Amino acid sequence: AGLKTLTMIKPGAVKNRHIGAILNMIEEAGFRISAIKSLKLSKEDAENFYEEHKERPFFPELVDFMSSGPIVAAILLKENAVEDFRKLIGSTDPAEAEEGTIRKLFAESKAHNAIHGSDSDASAERECHFFFSSKELLERHP
Ligand code: CMP
Repeated sequence: AGLKTLTMIKPGAVKNRHIGAILNMIEEAGFRISAIKSLKLSKEDAENFYEEHKERPFFPELVDFMSSGPIVAAILLKENAVEDFRKLIGSTDPAEAEEGTIRKLFAESKAHNAIHGSDSDASAERECHFFFSSKELLERHP
């Protein structure tokens, strides 16, 4: 299994001042934060990031939300990163997310669900390159 995953703390969670609490949960769960930045996606950026969802009915809402304010993007390192991180964040819909997961604690709805995690090692690779340059893509924590 892969060693890295890409996360975004979404605009709602940033606006509600949950960056610190969420990063703390991520570190407490054993992930190393190997790259991190705060930025605002343009609509075009969000369309490109989510291109696999472009035929879905929720795509326009997803693009509008993800470009509505600043996000935090980070590369997280851990053995079995993709799967372990998806367990930590919980189900897409907070109503279905387990107690103690990041989405259970901080998501407002299925659309405004606080945080993103890559869904496969291939997606993680693509998404890490979407946000970070080769100099920032550390394969191991220094
Ligand atoms: P994420 O898993 O990060 O990537 C796809 C996103 O689409 C997902 O989070 C949700 O935020 C969003 N999404 C999924 N289903 C819906 C829906 N039914 N309505 C609005 N947004 C959705």
